[in-house]
Amino acid sequence: MPVPPQPDIPAHVAIIMDGNGRWAKQRGLPRVAGHRRGVEAVRTATYAARDLGVKILTLYAFSVENWQRPKTEVGALMGLLELYLKKELATFVRDGVRLRTIGRTNELPAGVQKRLHATIEETKDFTGYTLVLALNYGSRTETVDAAQAYAAALAAGKEKPNDRSWATFSRYLSTTCLPDPDLVIRTSGETRVSNFLLLQAAYAEFVFTPVLWPDFTKADLAAALTEYARRERRFGLTSEQVRHPVGVRTP
Ligand code: FPP
Repeated sequence: MPVPPQPDIPAHVAIIMDGNGRWAKQRGLPRVAGHRRGVEAVRTATYAARDLGVKILTLYAFSVENWQRPKTEVGALMGLLELYLKKELATFVRDGVRLRTIGRTNELPAGVQKRLHATIEETKDFTGYTLVLALNYGSRTETVDAAQAYAAALAAGKEKPNDRSWATFSRYLSTTCLPDPDLVIRTSGETRVSNFLLLQAAYAEFVFTPVLWPDFTKADLAAALTEYARRERRFGLTSEQVRHPVGVRTP
C-alpha cells in the first residue's frame, strides 16, 4: 500500500464514550440518568462530526464486557438503545446518515435487533456519511470470529493457504469495507483502549480528553480534530520518508 495521504480532517473518527456514570454521580443521580444524557451526546456528536467533515463516526456503545454490569443497568442501556433507534430512523433517512454496526449483534435483545435491521436496511444506500455503532463489540471476540471464518474459507478452498496478507484476513473482521480509524478519542480522562478496534487502530492517532461523555460538545470534537491535524502520522516510516514518499510503500 502506498503511504496514505494525510489530510487534516480524519475521514474516520472512533470514540470510546466514557463517563456517563461519573456524570450522574456528580449530580447525585442514578447511573441511568448519565446514560440518558449520553444518548443526547451521541446525537450531538453524530451531526458535529458530519459538519466538521468527518465521513465515518464509530461509537463504542456497548462492549462484550458490559453484560457483566448490574442487570438493571444492562436492561436500561438496551431500552435506551431501542428507543434511540426508533426515534432516529426518520432523522437518518432525512439527513442521509447510513447506519452500520460492528459486534455480535445477533446476541442483542430481539427488539433491538429488529430496530437495527430496519434502520440499516432503510439507510444502506446513503454514501455521504456513516455512523457505526459498536454493539456487543470486543476486539478479541471479533478476532476469534474472524479467525474461525478465515479458517473455514481456507478449508473450503475459498482462500489461498500461502496468501497470509492483512488485506485478505481483515475482510473477515466485522469492520470489513470500513477504512481504519484515523483518530480514536476517549472521554472522561481514562487512557485505556478497552478492547476497542485493537487491530484497526494500529496506526490511529489517540486523543484523550477529561470531558465526561454527556458533556462532550461539538467544540470538544473540533478541539480533538485540531490536535489530530498537528500530528505527523508516520506508519512506521521516518519523518523524511513521509514528507517525500517517492517509491515508499507501507506493509
Ligand atoms: C461508559 O460510561 C458508557 C457506556 C458503557 C455506554 C455508552 C452508552 C451510551 C452513550 C448511551 C447509549 C448509546 C446509544 C448509541 C443509544 P460509564 O457508564 O462506564 O461511565 P463511568 O466510567 O463514569 O461509570
